[in-house]
Amino acid sequence: MAVLISGRGTNLQAFIDACDDGELPAQISLVISNNPDAAGLRRAEHASIATLCVDHRNYPTRETFDAALVEALRAHSVDLVILAGFMRILTPVLIEPYLGRLLNIHPSLLPKYPGLKTHQRALDARDSEAGATVHFVTQELDGGPPVIQARVPIQTGDTAEGLAARVAEQEHSIYTIAARWFVQGRLALNGHRATLDGEPVPPTGIQYTSAINR
Ligand code: GRF
Repeated sequence: MAVLISGRGTNLQAFIDACDDGELPAQISLVISNNPDAAGLRRAEHASIATLCVDHRNYPTRETFDAALVEALRAHSVDLVILAGFMRILTPVLIEPYLGRLLNIHPSLLPKYPGLKTHQRALDARDSEAGATVHFVTQELDGGPPVIQARVPIQTGDTAEGLAARVAEQEHSIYTIAARWFVQGRLALNGHRATLDGEPVPPTGIQYTSAINR
């Protein structure tokens, strides 16, 4: 698998750890960042994983940037592409060849709050819970079929930062579970729906509990 990042890489770290301890039977063959300063690149180097910086500022269009990503993914024979805090909008140049093999995590209970500042928006709306959703990537921004979703209660006096930290913990659990389902051949994209073990996943994804059958 390849992991695409732009920043601190705590989800990447969860994948590195899950591969190391055998929980995720996969190999991370490449970590790509569009941001040369991404702290996640250091995590990959520390784990002796090949890294590549593809700086979007060196490409005239989103399409030419995506073509460079596809070239790198093909060169590493990648079967699964994980977006983990990758802050670029993708085009069909990347999405089409990897459709059904391309996952993202979004820090909200999709379909609520696609886009940015999700935790602040949940607080502003006085929601009682926030969360994160792993989904297949399609052309629709943060709109592809959900796979698994974790809910986090909002507490009185919560700040966006505090909430984000509690959600991040759940992100690390659900993202590695989704990747494991994929590499085990249990998770697939069928048309507009994700399936697990051949059964359609509910529209907002499988609801994660710590007792979930991992
Ligand atoms: C996570 O909150 C993820 O949901 C969002 O970007 C953030 C990445 O965090 N897509 P990290 O770089 O994995 O720590």
